[in-house]
Amino acid sequence: MPTVKVFKTPGLMASCDMSESVAVVIDVLRATSSIVHAFSSGSRLAIPAMNRQAALETKKLYPNALLCGEENGMKIQGFDLGNSPKEYTPKKVGGKTIIMTTSNGTKAILGAASRGASPVLLCSFLNLLAVAKTTREALSGPGGNAFIVCSGSDGRFSLEDFACAGALARELEALGFCLHPTAREALECFEPYQGDILKILQNSPHGQYLKDIGFEDDLAFCANINTETSVPTLTPEGLIYTST
Ligand code: MLT
Repeated sequence: MPTVKVFKTPGLMASCDMSESVAVVIDVLRATSSIVHAFSSGSRLAIPAMNRQAALETKKLYPNALLCGEENGMKIQGFDLGNSPKEYTPKKVGGKTIIMTTSNGTKAILGAASRGASPVLLCSFLNLLAVAKTTREALSGPGGNAFIVCSGSDGRFSLEDFACAGALARELEALGFCLHPTAREALECFEPYQGDILKILQNSPHGQYLKDIGFEDDLAFCANINTETSVPTLTPEGLIYTST
């Protein structure tokens, strides 16, 4: 049976060989919630970029794409969209390619890809169940494990990502996965909050920061559980929509 292991921060996956394994990247507040929602709204491709400069370079190759993302939580000057999931409406992103750069989430996605994982999937509370099923299907053959990568915040642990990892680990255990002690620890972190996801986000320093800069509504949005079935999946071109 495959094992599920959780990395509390992206730095911890540095020496891990993820070949033949699935990596699931989580940045609940807010990158993976926004990208999941962009695909639910009909976006066709989401290209993760390391930083503003890389996003601008990518735009030269995709002149019709929308430039999206944040620095310090705020929309980057001159970009089309910030990092509030609710901005990603069918009207704005339907049929569109988005180029996305965020402080931690897009870096964690690119980091997981560089460790050789395939596929790399994106998870948030919005699409937990769909990610669990896709992970199970991807590992239906012999070999391979699931690595859950918490994006954290500037290299530090984030409560909301670790709790979401625990919620995903619970779904994977129900599908027959063995839990590594790191996954069991994440599950124990999630359990006290399972009836109140919003409380996790309100208790997290980044959630508090987002509230302070005017994005309190994003916390409620990102606290929705299993409301979406899109599973962003990394390909050489960028993230594409898949669903179960
Ligand atoms: C990140 O990548 O660190 C986040 O998505 C930041 C944010 O809340 O916009």
